Amino acid sequence: MTAITTLFRCPVAVKASGLLTAEADLFPEERAFIRAAVPKRRAEFATARILARKALGTLGAVPIPLVPRPDRAPTWPSGYTGSISHCDNFCAVVVARSRDVVSLGLDVENRRELDRTMQELVLTPAERQWAAVQPEALRPTLPILIFSAKEAFYKCQYPVTRGFLDFQDVELAIDWMSGTYTARVLKPEWPAAVACLSGRFLIDDDRVGCGVELLPG
Ligand SMILES: CC(C)(COP(=O)(O)OP(=O)(O)OC[C@H]1O[C@@H](n2cnc3c(N)ncnc32)[C@H](O)[C@@H]1OP(=O)(O)O)[C@@H](O)C(=O)NCCC(=O)NCCS
Repeated sequence: MTAITTLFRCPVAVKASGLLTAEADLFPEERAFIRAAVPKRRAEFATARILARKALGTLGAVPIPLVPRPDRAPTWPSGYTGSISHCDNFCAVVVARSRDVVSLGLDVENRRELDRTMQELVLTPAERQWAAVQPEALRPTLPILIFSAKEAFYKCQYPVTRGFLDFQDVELAIDWMSGTYTARVLKPEWPAAVACLSGRFLIDDDRVGCGVELLPG
């Protein structure tokens, strides 16, 4: 997945790679944070921090520790924001200057079919109706696309609301031809600034990727 930058309209820096054996390059507080995790998670965490520092460096940020918050949300240097996603042996990080964007959400998933239970968890009744009438060749990919699109939306809205959303709380309108979607929160009390955001998606043979941004103003 080489075109992650195109998931965003604002100026961003993106770095992506397979898992790196990069623990030695972590700051001590990052190493301490991840010490008790299993090896795969330690590698994922380290890869994300190395890629994030590289991406931030291209925007002029000095390297600092990127220890997650207690709620697992990532932290960023003052003046910058970003988003991280992992899937099988792959990690991608997007960062931007805060003056260009309030918040970013990136999600990358292995392209796969979701079983019926997962589909019922992730897709709203309206999304299931929509998926059922799409061209047959697309249908196996739609549930994982909807999953990823909602995860990207969630990551973008979270820094603003610090609020939890269930998959059934968010409904998508997908425009297949333009590779765009709108994610709308179905809870009337949700803050207006993040109650409806647009996103973009990419699909290749192996992966599905989605990006959402909240622009200033
Ligand atoms: C945050 C969440 C969306 C991560 O998605 P995921 O597909 O499991 O995992 P990914 O590999 O794509 O993303 C992991 C990264 O998300 C980031 N992340 C974790 N919690 C986050 C949050 N609350 N807000 C923004 N980003 C978050 C982290 O940077 C993490 O990487 P790191 O641990 O190396 O720092 C998921 O774990 C979660 O908390 N879900 C609950 C809410 C939800 O999914 N609702 C349905 C959609 S509306």
